[in-house]
Amino acid sequence: MPFSFQDFPAARDDLRADVLAGLVASPKAIPPKYFYDEAGCRLFEAICAQPEYALCRTEQALMAECLSDIAATVGAVDCIVEPGAGDCSKVRLLVDTLSPTRLVVMDIAGEPLAAAAQAVSRDYPDLDVAALAMDFLRDLEAAAPWLPAGRRLVYYPGSSIGNFAPDAASALLARFRHLAGADGRLLIGFDLKKDPQQLHAAYNDAAGVTAAFNLNLLARLNRELGADFDLGRFRHYAFYNPVAGRIEMHLVSLGEQDVHVAGQRFHFALGETLHTEHSYKFRRDEFSALAENAGWQLAGEWMRGGFAVQLYR
Ligand code: AVJ
Repeated sequence: MPFSFQDFPAARDDLRADVLAGLVASPKAIPPKYFYDEAGCRLFEAICAQPEYALCRTEQALMAECLSDIAATVGAVDCIVEPGAGDCSKVRLLVDTLSPTRLVVMDIAGEPLAAAAQAVSRDYPDLDVAALAMDFLRDLEAAAPWLPAGRRLVYYPGSSIGNFAPDAASALLARFRHLAGADGRLLIGFDLKKDPQQLHAAYNDAAGVTAAFNLNLLARLNRELGADFDLGRFRHYAFYNPVAGRIEMHLVSLGEQDVHVAGQRFHFALGETLHTEHSYKFRRDEFSALAENAGWQLAGEWMRGGFAVQLYR
């Protein structure tokens, strides 16, 4: 069970700088990667268990159902690389089936990643596991020394790519080409465009878990930056924008108020928004155009219940 953990402090998130920059932008905005502190990770897991939010369940079912076909289409790989691996639960299925010699997982949340990757390493004695604590958006290239020479598969499941506007998504997919290498592959999951009411419900679950997830960002800023957001004075507001093809998530100020963050004062007008997330939805052809734009060639596709997984070479 060879296991290594590497922390990249220079490539870690800079919460303070990003939040201060986001609060002077117009509209005010904070990148969605900051949702995922410990409480945020737990709340996201709870979202995945909500009846209205089928995304995670659908992808899981699709992967289980299509696994042998996916594996046959992917072919032999020496290494699987997963940016944003979280609790490493998704990649286990691929490790089982593709039997690579090395697994490289990276995540912005270093401690949970280390624990999860170590557990994978215990369960697969022949697998060489490297866990990299980094913000891969900041310094993906720092992973190079951990990438073996053989064929590499980059795995990016969960419609995480939906968090990026088309230009940024295309740029990220282009960077994944370097991660995968010359003969590399990319297996990527994304949520499909569907009935807007269904999308709306998925981000406005009746139990209020998505609202709690969104508001936890403010709680995190209170905890980690000594901010004084009053969570009762911001409203979770999520809707599907069919022109842009995305869910937009906001925290809307319920009144005129001042908030202090890291010793600085910020004013929110009544109805002013703090934008927290875009979650793009795609048609299959829209997504392949995006990936082809980034230099990838479509090599396989699987779809079930409003979710798609595509393979690229
Ligand atoms: C993890 C980015 C795929 O956009 O659906 C869930 C995050 N936000 N509910 C998504 C999320 C609100 C999720 N992704």
